[in-house]
Amino acid sequence: MGKLKIGIIGGGGIAQAAHIANYKKHADRVELVAIADVNEQTLRYNTEAHGFAHTFTDYNDMFAQVELDAVSVCTPNKFHAPAAIAALRAGCHVLCEKPPAMTAAEAVEMELAAEASGKILAYGFNNRYKGRAQYIKRFIDNGEIGDIYAGRVTAMRRNGIPGGVFVNKELQGGGPLIDIGVHMLDLALWYMNFPKPVQVMGATYQELGTKPFETVPTPWDYRNYTVEDLAMGMVRFENGATLLIESSFIVHMPNHTNNTVLLHGTKGGCDFKTGAVFQNKFGTVVDITAPKLPDPDSHQLQLEAFIDALEGKGEMLSTPRQGVIVQQILEALYRSAETGEAVNV
Ligand SMILES: NC(=O)c1ccc[n+]([C@@H]2O[C@H](COP(=O)([O-])OP(=O)(O)OC[C@H]3O[C@@H](n4cnc5c(N)ncnc54)[C@H](O)[C@@H]3O)[C@@H](O)[C@H]2O)c1
Repeated sequence: MGKLKIGIIGGGGIAQAAHIANYKKHADRVELVAIADVNEQTLRYNTEAHGFAHTFTDYNDMFAQVELDAVSVCTPNKFHAPAAIAALRAGCHVLCEKPPAMTAAEAVEMELAAEASGKILAYGFNNRYKGRAQYIKRFIDNGEIGDIYAGRVTAMRRNGIPGGVFVNKELQGGGPLIDIGVHMLDLALWYMNFPKPVQVMGATYQELGTKPFETVPTPWDYRNYTVEDLAMGMVRFENGATLLIESSFIVHMPNHTNNTVLLHGTKGGCDFKTGAVFQNKFGTVVDITAPKLPDPDSHQLQLEAFIDALEGKGEMLSTPRQGVIVQQILEALYRSAETGEAVNV
């Protein structure tokens, strides 16, 4: 088998740190052939640093002119769906960064394009590849938690507004919920085996992101801050389970960050942050903790799983349908926040 020909769409931060860097570790199996980015300077940098033979400012030209086996989609969220669909139609496998898209309808279109092409469409839900995530999943899969009937998704930063496009609603679709909340929401849904969401209630706030912050430099432009800074919500699933969601870029709270999924099941509970499992055993309550859990680079493991899958040696953990369910919840929460009503999915 010759080397797989790889293209990159969007050559910014995550493309360089998590995709290009990890493809390069497998230069015997994959070849970085082409890159598309609207920014000429980014194209120049990537060509010099990584030796791409072909560069394009429009990914459609890339597909018209270069034959590729697979692409990583690493653009702002607005372009995930059109770029991934163009790639699938061009016969490429796709690893698309999170969130899947801007809307549930886009995620459905992506799923349909994947089905029509017969190619892989996987999403950058790299947290699933973390040591703690896998460890908890093994407890769940072995019945140690029982039926999960409730939980809480937390992706909270005290003072962590990113710069760049991440405060731009037009390009990103929203703020912390769609950017960081999506990681923990995906993890919770994966643990719960992706039950069907039926109703979502939510509220979003923009209390601090639009103002200058007194104590630290502000890397973001508060005058052009158009996303929420805090999102709160609750999802009810067809099987009766419920999930609370909280996600912030900036909020007054005791710790700097708090990212976790806390789940309650009929036989036990679990907390992603600490990797702890909670049970009742032999007449007492016990916490099961591992003295040392592996902490591999989840981006690298995800990319290696992608290369394996391209070579027919394994499957990606995420599916296009799961992407649709994640997106349905995000969209419903934002809609509920806008309307002030619970939204049926
Ligand atoms: N999985 C993770 O942990 C993780 C971490 C960071 C970012 N991300 C995701 O990756 C995506 C990109 O984030 P980033 O931090 O790399 O942003 P970035 O701004 O550093 O890079 C985005 C790049 O896309 C380019 N671009 C914009 N529009 C384009 C288009 N139409 N066609 C081609 N290129 C285009 C920009 O010029 C830029 O170079 C986002 O969707 C984000 O949610 C995921």
